[in-house]
Amino acid sequence: MIQKCLFPVAGYGTRFLPATKSMPKEMLPIVNKPLVQYGVEEAVAAGLTKIGFVTGRGKRAIADHFDVSFELEHQIAGTDKENYLTGIRTLIDTVNFSFTRQNKMLGLGHAILSGETLIGDEPFAVVLADDLCIVLDEEGDGVLSQMVKLYKQFRCSIVAIEEVPKQDSPKYGIIAGSMIREGLYNITDMVEKPKPEEAPTNLAIIGRYILTPDIFDLIRQTPPGKNGEIQITDALLKQAQNGCVLAYQFKGRRFDCGSVPGFIEATNFCYQEIFCKQQS
Ligand code: G1P
Repeated sequence: MIQKCLFPVAGYGTRFLPATKSMPKEMLPIVNKPLVQYGVEEAVAAGLTKIGFVTGRGKRAIADHFDVSFELEHQIAGTDKENYLTGIRTLIDTVNFSFTRQNKMLGLGHAILSGETLIGDEPFAVVLADDLCIVLDEEGDGVLSQMVKLYKQFRCSIVAIEEVPKQDSPKYGIIAGSMIREGLYNITDMVEKPKPEEAPTNLAIIGRYILTPDIFDLIRQTPPGKNGEIQITDALLKQAQNGCVLAYQFKGRRFDCGSVPGFIEATNFCYQEIFCKQQS
């Protein structure tokens, strides 16, 4: 079954400069927790306890975050502040973290291919931490858990999708497909960041993927596409044409934390619906 989850985290985060000048964008906090920790918790809740990061220059804070901090823990041992570290301590104790570097910014497909050394020959998930997916406890399973269940049934690559306004299609990979059932499509076409008038539908790919390992060879055969980058969307289209790739309209809400408005919206939501409720 699926055990591994890859986090491509080498990107620069230019939209958050100067905050991201010396700090990884994935470490920006949504209330009191870094963005990337939400993604890791979602993966672990789906049973994926081997987490691989594809990092780059200036990203060491991510590795430090998922490691023990002896000095800090010694300092606050026995005080009421210890509670603040419970969540991250549980992750550190139960999850296996590994790291590799992407030394050229050649696109998401290239980032995923750089992670091959951490994945090997098994199906795996990919999380783009910028896309924060929140499903409250009382609402059901997290997005990756929903996708892992689907994988058990269909055993092929799956991308998460959501309806977006047509004018936003230049921000996303857009799919077209035949409906298998409500909210589930067999992909027939995929285009990376099309102009609104060229978008085949309004169904956009969101940063959650389950990929079968044959994707690595397909990425290797994929020439640079949109913006001169190696696009996972192009490799997935080949996989869809050779066999099957599903698009799944997940249950839950997603915030585009790669943009300032999405980040603020996520912060307000998490403050009210998670943080305040935990305090009361
Ligand atoms: C990437 C993918 C795109 C997808 C998006 C989801 O783009 O290339 O297909 O829709 O993530 O967030 P990026 O946002 O990294 O430019």
